[in-house]
Amino acid sequence: MGLLIIFLVSFIASISGSCTNDKNLVLDLAFKLSGNDVVFPCPTTKNIYASSGRWIPKNIIATRLAVYNDYGIVTLSRFRQGVPFTVGRFPLVNITSRVPLVAFPCWSIQEEGSCDSIQNAIDLTIDPLDILWVLDLGICNTLEQPVKRCSPKLWGIKPDSGKVVKTIDLSTFLSFDSRIQYLVVDYSVDGVPYAYISDAGSASIIVINILHGTGFRVVLPVAICPSVKDIFYLQLIRKSHDTVLYFSYLSSPFIYSIKTKLLQQGHVDGAIIKCGTKPLGYQVVLLGTDNGAGIFFRYKGDSDIYVWNTDTAFKPENFLLVHKGGYCRMATQVIPGWKKLMWAIESNFHDYITGTTGCLGPSIIVYPLVKTSES
Ligand SMILES: *[C@@H]1O[C@H](CO)[C@@H](O)[C@H](O)[C@H]1NC(C)=O
Repeated sequence: MGLLIIFLVSFIASISGSCTNDKNLVLDLAFKLSGNDVVFPCPTTKNIYASSGRWIPKNIIATRLAVYNDYGIVTLSRFRQGVPFTVGRFPLVNITSRVPLVAFPCWSIQEEGSCDSIQNAIDLTIDPLDILWVLDLGICNTLEQPVKRCSPKLWGIKPDSGKVVKTIDLSTFLSFDSRIQYLVVDYSVDGVPYAYISDAGSASIIVINILHGTGFRVVLPVAICPSVKDIFYLQLIRKSHDTVLYFSYLSSPFIYSIKTKLLQQGHVDGAIIKCGTKPLGYQVVLLGTDNGAGIFFRYKGDSDIYVWNTDTAFKPENFLLVHKGGYCRMATQVIPGWKKLMWAIESNFHDYITGTTGCLGPSIIVYPLVKTSES
């Protein structure tokens, strides 16, 4: 009997080991995030949130990441109830034991149901002039009983002072079948900030002139519109003369690109280039860029991360394996950043969606991927 118990314990340790024992990680630079480590303004608030079901740690998951100075900033999307704030910040230095997750820019701007607050952050990015942009879906509890709280919005926040510098209501740019997903922000050659938002439901890219708060929807031509409108990825690459937006649906066999200067003018006819065909039968998750010509991706259901140099053809001989993944988590984003490293955020999001993470909640980790050149 005793032996059997010892055997079971070591067996369980060996399977769960895939979650904790990733030999590829630079262990002292890996940050484990957890809904149990959210920081409340005071113990009373914590008690109220816990007893009223507004804080359910296992329902908290981080999927999108930005880095500013010595902090990581993440989306804590309101897929389910019990997420007290939807944009969180954590320090990348001075960590003693657990990584504290603090509401960013402050507690009061996270209130569910108040339209002066961020309702459901689904993506975020820091632009080249250091403004943090948050894509707010406006709808909460998307994996349970979706509740439309407020209009979808784009929020611009100074990451140092936490001051909100811009809010743009996106509802006028959406249609009845819209399903917005990803956000990219860049500046035109004459210095005007533009946001590009993927709208999987209506197969379009929403183009927003942030300076004027104006915008329009660029509907993909019928010829490249996929039959399954699942997940619509966007990635921005800055080439020497042009900035190019790469895009693809998860289940589309192709990857496309368009120069942003043409997109800004709403010119799509003849402007969209088919720049790659995915290996037959593989779905591709676009994860991020290296701030150069490289786009990180992985195959659906697989945790290995590859980089593709967009100056070359999209085919396996041009893919470089940069991270051998484990069994438990998969990356949802890779960004260049802190300490000149590439940072990945990964989780068992697939278990979260199906509600099978168990009572400990999802396993979320932020870790450096590869070292860039020492320049
Ligand atoms: C780290 O600790 C130093 C010294 O106490 C402090 O000045 C700094 O703000 C801390 N940084 C973060 C990100 O917590």
